[in-house]
Amino acid sequence: MSNKVEIFAHRGISGLYPENTMAAFKAAAEIGAHGIELDVQISQDGELVIIHDERIERTTNGVGYVKDLTLNRLKQYDAGSWFHVDFQNERIPTLNEVLEWVKTLSYKLIVNIELKNDRIKYENLEEKVVRLIHELNLDQQCIISSFNRDSLKKIYEIDQKIETALLFQGVPTDVLNIAKNLHVQALHCEAVFAQSILGRKASLAGYPMRVYTINTLEDFHSLENTCASVVMTDFPQMFLSF
Ligand code: G3P
Ligand code: MG
Repeated sequence: MSNKVEIFAHRGISGLYPENTMAAFKAAAEIGAHGIELDVQISQDGELVIIHDERIERTTNGVGYVKDLTLNRLKQYDAGSWFHVDFQNERIPTLNEVLEWVKTLSYKLIVNIELKNDRIKYENLEEKVVRLIHELNLDQQCIISSFNRDSLKKIYEIDQKIETALLFQGVPTDVLNIAKNLHVQALHCEAVFAQSILGRKASLAGYPMRVYTINTLEDFHSLENTCASVVMTDFPQMFLSF
């Protein structure tokens, strides 16, 4: 890890605010996080919405699958009280709302958009995200990541300008070949990969390694002798001073 390691707020400052809400993203910008990470799914009426799970029970007071509910219906639910009563006015944001807000900031906050389509194959998710990023002129500020390799392949087929990153767990021996075949520019990995010999190889091969999800000082320091360039964390305030 170089001393220039950057800090991305995972689902916003999700350790202190309800994850994937405007409150969590705004708090990240207020403390000067280098980036935010968020998860995108599609509503029943085709809108890009920011929520981690395919179902809404864990993080709202509603019931059901995101894919079965219209944006209008999703917006009726409270996406903050599950975390703390102070956040009862939080709503599930759309990607458009988050990106429009990002454009108002006085610094270049990086947005890591994770396509959450490893369980549900949302139709045209890739096209919709790419189109929106271009419409808002944010192609130099967004990174699209996914565990879904077909999705990353599709992004490359429709656009070669926006940075893409392969998300994976553990230390897959063939990851460099996969990354090359998918034309991704970066690897979003766990600490164990950054600490491995393969992680060093990946870095020498020119792939930035962004490590998720680091929430303790012990884990943060365990990356000191690695080439990790970004740490994604639920507690960015803990690491921004390093
Ligand atoms: O993008 C890194 C990380 O967010 C991947 O896992 O489940 O937190 O979306 P998850
Ligand atoms: Mg994520």
